[in-house]
Amino acid sequence: MDGNNKVPVHVSIIMDGNGRWAKLRGKERVFGHAEGVGSVRACVEAAVEAGVKYLSLFAFSEENWGRPESEVSTLMGMMMDAIRNEIESLAGQGIAFRVIGNLSRLSPDLLDSIRKAEQRTAPAEGKEPVMTLVVFLSYSGKWDILQAATRMAKEYASCPEALDSLEISDFDKYLSTWGIPDPDLVIRTSGEKRISNYLLWQTAYSELLSVDTLWPDFRKEEFRSALEEYSKRNRRYGKVK
Ligand code: IPE
Ligand code: IPE
Ligand code: MG
Repeated sequence: MDGNNKVPVHVSIIMDGNGRWAKLRGKERVFGHAEGVGSVRACVEAAVEAGVKYLSLFAFSEENWGRPESEVSTLMGMMMDAIRNEIESLAGQGIAFRVIGNLSRLSPDLLDSIRKAEQRTAPAEGKEPVMTLVVFLSYSGKWDILQAATRMAKEYASCPEALDSLEISDFDKYLSTWGIPDPDLVIRTSGEKRISNYLLWQTAYSELLSVDTLWPDFRKEEFRSALEEYSKRNRRYGKVK
């Protein structure tokens, strides 16, 4: 049979095209970022409605620190505001919120509100969240692999012979995404067809979808269309099906 007819467990989105969206309207890039917050809200709703269990969003890459200072500080301010404005609603819906990345580069204030938001939305002991919303902030795939390898090397320093019998899953445990299933579907908006140092290890068998829609225009209908496209994919994992 063609297609897998399934709802993806984990949908990940590279939210791209905010600057171009603003430019098309003769506005500053930050207008695009502000409008993009509405798309985050819409996709969270659509994902919950569809029964997606993990929605992850690439919000800011390690490379994005190289943007003009004013854009970086606006984005960080918007992240702070979004957490402040949305966290009670997420908690009320039973959505667990997590932020993953090289957080040592964030301001202490932002880090503090992230930690509080994570605690506020953490599911009670023995309870499954309705969905987990993961925001990748100050993240890069190579950073993740390097920090995993470094931590692992330190832990195995006293028993190097154990390195000879490692399984893939032994390495998985050191990645910042440990416990989160690999993405089934990775969507990139704005028509770009590159991974831009996002999840590298974890996307080994993800279905990739590039859509021309710019992120601020990617709303519920577009999210649902992406799930529809996913349901037609035939995931073979290297086998014959
Ligand atoms: C995505 O939109 C947001 C971030 C990367 C923070 P962009 O800001 O990259 O928008 P374009 O790609 O320049 O249009
Ligand atoms: C990727 O978008 C990063 C995020 C969406 C957070 P970029 O706009 O930074 O990527 P490039 O520069 O087009 O590769
Ligand atoms: Mg971009």
